[in-house]
Amino acid sequence: MTKHDATAATEWWRHGIVYQVYLRSFADGNGDGTGDVAGLRNKLGYLNELGVDALWINPWYSSPLKDGGYDVSDYRSIDERFGTIEEVELFIAEAHDLGIKIIADLVPNHTSDQHCWFQEALAAAPSHPARDRYIFRPGKGPDGSEPPTNWTAVFGGSAWERVADGEWYLHIFDTSQPDLNWQHDDVRAEFDDIFRFWLDRGIDGFRIDVAHGLVKDLSFPDVAESAVILESERSTDHPFWDRDGVHEIIRRWRSVLDEYDNRMMVAEAWVAADRLPLYLRPDEYHQSFNFDLLTTDWDASQFTEVIKSSVEAANSVNAPSTWVLSNHDVMRHATRYGLPAGTKWRKWPVIGPYEALDQIKGTRRARAAALISLSLPGSTYIYQGEELGLPEVWDLPEDILDDPTWERSGHTEKGRDGCRVPLPWEIDGPSFGFGSGAPWMPQPASFGSLSVAAQVEDTNSMLSLYRRAIRLRRDHLAHLEDFSLVDLGADVLAYARGADILVVANMGTKPIQRPEGKVLISSDPQPGHLLQPDSSVWIVNES
Ligand code: NOJ
Repeated sequence: MTKHDATAATEWWRHGIVYQVYLRSFADGNGDGTGDVAGLRNKLGYLNELGVDALWINPWYSSPLKDGGYDVSDYRSIDERFGTIEEVELFIAEAHDLGIKIIADLVPNHTSDQHCWFQEALAAAPSHPARDRYIFRPGKGPDGSEPPTNWTAVFGGSAWERVADGEWYLHIFDTSQPDLNWQHDDVRAEFDDIFRFWLDRGIDGFRIDVAHGLVKDLSFPDVAESAVILESERSTDHPFWDRDGVHEIIRRWRSVLDEYDNRMMVAEAWVAADRLPLYLRPDEYHQSFNFDLLTTDWDASQFTEVIKSSVEAANSVNAPSTWVLSNHDVMRHATRYGLPAGTKWRKWPVIGPYEALDQIKGTRRARAAALISLSLPGSTYIYQGEELGLPEVWDLPEDILDDPTWERSGHTEKGRDGCRVPLPWEIDGPSFGFGSGAPWMPQPASFGSLSVAAQVEDTNSMLSLYRRAIRLRRDHLAHLEDFSLVDLGADVLAYARGADILVVANMGTKPIQRPEGKVLISSDPQPGHLLQPDSSVWIVNES
């Protein structure tokens, strides 16, 4: 093995395709309506056929599921709705047999309010040391009835909740997710141990939730504006986002990971582009999600700028860039791309105008986007169902919404359920093959024709496009580090990979001449000499 090959084999995350499994909605193996590890094991063959290198599994730990499992009550056990530790161990071994790595999702910023530490804290008197593992404070005002600061929770409302004895605790997400105090030795030691617990079970990597939020300014200043995490404009000195103290904690975790061979961690850090490289220093994260494409309109100059700056930022710290079009927190991109540029897509499902949506255009652009995200240098994350071209289910009835965002935003945002609807595997039948009974969240009738069964034999389907592109990426692109932009006009995103591959996306409204060369793959099912609007192509120069 050459040195380069040896690095490629160990640093598997540098060019990998990571498929995100939102377990609750992936496949239901025991028929109770909730996706589970048994269902996931049944579908390993599908994932292997798709050609992915790794799976990132959203939290599977014991949880009241107040925030889809990001409210963990026991980090060392699997929620009984999802399965058991023994099943997880079998699953890890089966995935490894197929050469697929497993990334677990770790939630260190907060626990569930049902976690034994929080229950202990609640049972203790104000100022008792049991409260110090969380962030409890007296309130303001003569009777302490006002929150200690004006901080706003990500899901809306105050970031403080008052308990029966009058003290307040901090929760930067839902009230059911009290923030841990990362200045406390118990908290630090406990997470070292949780890391080792999962590393010992063969977990290959960790996706770290809210990686930029762990450290709070304990002088508790008020903030000028409300705090928003997703799509945030980061201020330089925010009391809970991106504080310098987080890096010491990251380095501590990294040294635990480095006790094991070949493991990685990826940060969920919504921070400004110039701050992100700090998280990627050699003794910190191996990579970080790059969320820029999630918030970029379908526009060639915006895409070009985002891709250029992302590649430069990653290269500056020798970290692989990452590419994400969708995840479980945002509107599915097949729908987002069908809305006019600039639409506030978090609010749109509530306020419309609904006739603004052109779903056919959105799907066409999603096909073109797939060939972009799968051809860029670094690793690409695929959110379950994007390979089927699933749209956002934005019209879910209000009375079944599960995401805390709906209530906490005062019904101004429906939240994230629309991208978490259970996957369709079959054309018909109960829950389109997701399980044997009614799924936890209803699926629209349109899901049948988007199911795996409906697409698998159709060479023009989104699924076939993803499968083909992933295979071609492996053969032609995955080993290439280099990337250079090519100017083919204002409405065109174009770049070269290696000596002979050109990727071209027509993001304008008029057809353009397709550059010379052999078409490796096209997002347009009927490619001609013209590259149609909203389509993309990989071309190999054979001369
Ligand atoms: C980010 C996760 O992706 C999201 O789903 C969750 O609600 C918050 N962190 C809080 O844990």
